[in-house]
Amino acid sequence: MRTKIVAGNWKMNNNLEETEALLAELSAKLPDTKAQVIVAPTFVNLAAAKRSLQSSTIQVAAQNMHFAESGAYTGEISADMLLNIEVDTVILGHSERRAYFGETDELLAKKVKTAVEKGMKTIFCFGEELEDRKADNHFAVVESQLKNALFDLDADAWKNIILAYEPVWAIGTGETASPEQAQEMHAFIRKTIAEAYDASVADEVSILYGGSVKPGNASEIFSKPDVDGGLIGGASLKSDDFVAIIEAI
Ligand code: PGA
Repeated sequence: MRTKIVAGNWKMNNNLEETEALLAELSAKLPDTKAQVIVAPTFVNLAAAKRSLQSSTIQVAAQNMHFAESGAYTGEISADMLLNIEVDTVILGHSERRAYFGETDELLAKKVKTAVEKGMKTIFCFGEELEDRKADNHFAVVESQLKNALFDLDADAWKNIILAYEPVWAIGTGETASPEQAQEMHAFIRKTIAEAYDASVADEVSILYGGSVKPGNASEIFSKPDVDGGLIGGASLKSDDFVAIIEAI
């Protein structure tokens, strides 16, 4: 059985007090669930988040990291620094990192390789832009994002990979892919992985959907057979909304 996952990507939101307050609310309201619940606060609040969640099942992820071991990379954060504060999960390849910080598939391949070597779990984000979909290029774009960043990994490394399909046109826009569009793409992703590796790798990888998931649309999206959960942006900043999304899985 694939792991069901609901992850909250807080992006550049919440100072220390707000982080602690939101985590206290979430811990208090967390429903009984088989899903793995993950939150990704900003770097400066990761250690505090870990402390707040000491006796909780909620896990903590970073939103990014550098591929190098250490060294002269001003402003960057290494895998070892994250592991040192017991953060063992990292979001890589988010469309905002690609669009605003110039992250390419080639750079992401290096970051994923480092995460794998360090034994970290990666939530790898990818997805097409609106023009790609309009031009009916969305499958080709997604296939090349996967191939360029991930298909050099050994089959074994996929145990630590979680995929997050996030069509860029649906992120923060209020526009969601229909449950059918999500299912169609998730099935395509699984088929592409089965062809590159084998059916067991494809069947075991959790594929999350991300892009304007809300309490009102979550259960329909999560009901699709190849959708194993969600990566939630805006709605993860309000405890009631995030909890309702967790309840929908
Ligand atoms: P959204 O963001 O839920 O606000 O659309 C999703 C994401 O960027 O991961």
